[in-house]
Amino acid sequence: MTRAQAIADGLGQVRERIAAAECAAGRAPGSVRLLAVSKKMTADDVRAALAAGQHMFGENYAQELRDKRAALAQDSTLPTLPEWHYIGPLQSNKVKYVAGQVALAHTVDSSALLEAIEARGAPQACLVQVNVAGEAQKRGIAPADLPALLDRFATMSYVTCAGLMVIPPFTENPDDARPHFAALRALRDREAATARPHVELRELSMGMSGDLEAAIAEGATIVRVGTAIFGGRPPRTAAV
Ligand SMILES: Cc1ncc(COP(=O)(O)O)c(C=O)c1O
Repeated sequence: MTRAQAIADGLGQVRERIAAAECAAGRAPGSVRLLAVSKKMTADDVRAALAAGQHMFGENYAQELRDKRAALAQDSTLPTLPEWHYIGPLQSNKVKYVAGQVALAHTVDSSALLEAIEARGAPQACLVQVNVAGEAQKRGIAPADLPALLDRFATMSYVTCAGLMVIPPFTENPDDARPHFAALRALRDREAATARPHVELRELSMGMSGDLEAAIAEGATIVRVGTAIFGGRPPRTAAV
């Protein structure tokens, strides 16, 4: 089997899982969008996924996004250009590679980052990453600080908030992730009751290869899936 066939097969299996989970949760077919996590994958891997009908791609490293985006933008043979999303930790000095360049920035977690994105002067839709489990090492705003961060969007001209994102604690058992997905959904429901300028909490970005069914059962609108489509990622190198 070629690499392109393996990617097309992986995509097919993930699409089937999503459709089955939508059905099991009584949700409309197509209500969950698949974000293919192409971190550490090559531009050719993205081409293969595009050829198999995948449209949305997520990157975790700002420079890798910049390079892959540029390589594919110059390729006139593509059926369509990818819709890029940024899902990695974002430092203010890397914002220039992301702001105004992606359909959604999933990992906004501070007012400083919000201001850095706003300062680029280009329209940018964002999700707020919430650290629902209160993990010390993990990025994401504490649930208690979420209302104040959402309030900040009112003062922005370019940046809007389209929803919330979570990365639950790593666990072998996908059922363990479900309460964290439920917690993000409850936060969304609570905050959606408050009308705020430039904030419309329609997206819940949650669920990965191992736990997408649990996330869909709790209302995910975007699942971020890497390994189940592309296979294992090469180890991270010091240069990235
Ligand atoms: C934020 C985020 N979401 C989703 C994924 C995809 O995870 P998986 O390969 O388990 O599907 C990754 C992978 O690194 C990630 O960093």
